[in-house]
Amino acid sequence: YAQNTATLNAQGDSNLKISRHIYGHFAEHLGRSIYGGFYVGEDNTKIPNTNGVRNDIVEALKKLKVPNLRWPGGCFADTYHWKDGIGPKEQRPTIVNSWWGGVTENNSFGTHDFLNMCELLGAEPYLAGNMATGQVQELSDWVQYVNFAGESPMSKLRRENGRDEPWNVKFWGIGNEAWGCGGNMAPEYYANEYRKYATFVSDWNNSGGLFRIASGANSADYNWTEVLMKNIPKSLIEGVALHHYSVIDWNKKGPTRGFSDEQYFATMKSALFMEELINKHTAIMEKYDPEHKVALVVDEWGGWYDVEPGTNPGFLYQQNTMRDAMIAGATLNIFNNHCDRVKMANLAQAVNVLQAVILTDEEKMILTPTYHVMEMYNVHQDATLLPMNVKSENFTVGNESLPAVSASASKDNKGVTHVSLTNIDPKKAQEVAVNIDGAKYKSVNGRILTSKSIQDYNTFEKPDNIKPENFKGAKLKGNTLNVKLPPFSVVVLELK
Ligand code: AHR
Repeated sequence: YAQNTATLNAQGDSNLKISRHIYGHFAEHLGRSIYGGFYVGEDNTKIPNTNGVRNDIVEALKKLKVPNLRWPGGCFADTYHWKDGIGPKEQRPTIVNSWWGGVTENNSFGTHDFLNMCELLGAEPYLAGNMATGQVQELSDWVQYVNFAGESPMSKLRRENGRDEPWNVKFWGIGNEAWGCGGNMAPEYYANEYRKYATFVSDWNNSGGLFRIASGANSADYNWTEVLMKNIPKSLIEGVALHHYSVIDWNKKGPTRGFSDEQYFATMKSALFMEELINKHTAIMEKYDPEHKVALVVDEWGGWYDVEPGTNPGFLYQQNTMRDAMIAGATLNIFNNHCDRVKMANLAQAVNVLQAVILTDEEKMILTPTYHVMEMYNVHQDATLLPMNVKSENFTVGNESLPAVSASASKDNKGVTHVSLTNIDPKKAQEVAVNIDGAKYKSVNGRILTSKSIQDYNTFEKPDNIKPENFKGAKLKGNTLNVKLPPFSVVVLELK
């Protein structure tokens, strides 16, 4: 075991909560995410479903405690006209999904279908509005359609379509990747457009306000954040987004399975870059918003590799190995530790796309290693952050190094402390001596996710190849917690 040290402030600051919305997910009309993923159709007799939504997916996501779900995109959102997806299904027009495979969609999954599905999941919807090929009126109508309780043209239409009560959608994205697929805009132009759109994304219910999220920077485009923070009045914005994928090279992403040591290192380097990105983007936000009114919303993150051989390149279908579990563990530790500004995040994506938590094949469904990490870490949702500081050993490939161990901790409303640790070193075990300040714990229990090889994944034939197990490698002695982490492992401990 390589030796590491850490400190844990077990008192914390009760004002510093890890928002459950950091554990959000994303469902785009892309490949088999919606059609053939979440949604299999009302008349499907082979796959048990509720109004066309797979029951097994709903059950699995409920266990994950999905706090919010972003829809309908992504790039797709800026081509989507929501009125195409309401009313009798047989009368809905078809559309072509021009960003993702050029496939024709029949719009059988629309606003009602999505919002009712969120109710089944117990998740808050996060609607991404179209500000590239759409109109201000169209987006403003969407808000009125889903949120207005009284008499209005849009609430009348909603009632005609079978829904009396509004859904009260709080989270609204205004455009997506406006610097790219969302219109190739300059930040100054986008900021102006945003101001106009945000004015009409208004709280029809006066029920505590909407949470409007501006389309944010592409990774290290700090100028984008600077221009938005400078030019958008704080009265019009609640969140600014950031998109960052753990990608080796956009032109040579490498295989999902059978990756080399160097490719593994490059992926983890890109994943850990999230720390620097958050530090630099939040430093800019601090300058314009020292009161922390505006949240940083990382509404797309995760690993992105070449698609599985033989699958449609436009569908972004990839398997999910222990490498993805490492991305998830390390990234969630970063988000938790930055919960003063990072209030929301969305893993891309939930089902059958990119770093999915669920994969399906006809009636079969599997949970990925990433699912298990998200499930283990959900104990941090809405808990008080307990600051942790890790002095980690390096994990080295060639002449480059990364810290092997990352950690975060929190105290929940029952007073139970949880510590999550990730060792991304694929070869070396790590021992961590955590010096605890401010509490005397009597017991420690835990679970671990690891496997025989970093290349391992769950298959439809062996769905439980990788799953959390009880962990016996943590010991308490006085005010020291000693944890023995095997190579490429994620551990979550409960301290009482
Ligand atoms: O998640 C897949 C795509 O990645 C999204 O549609 C887009 O916003 C991003 O480029």
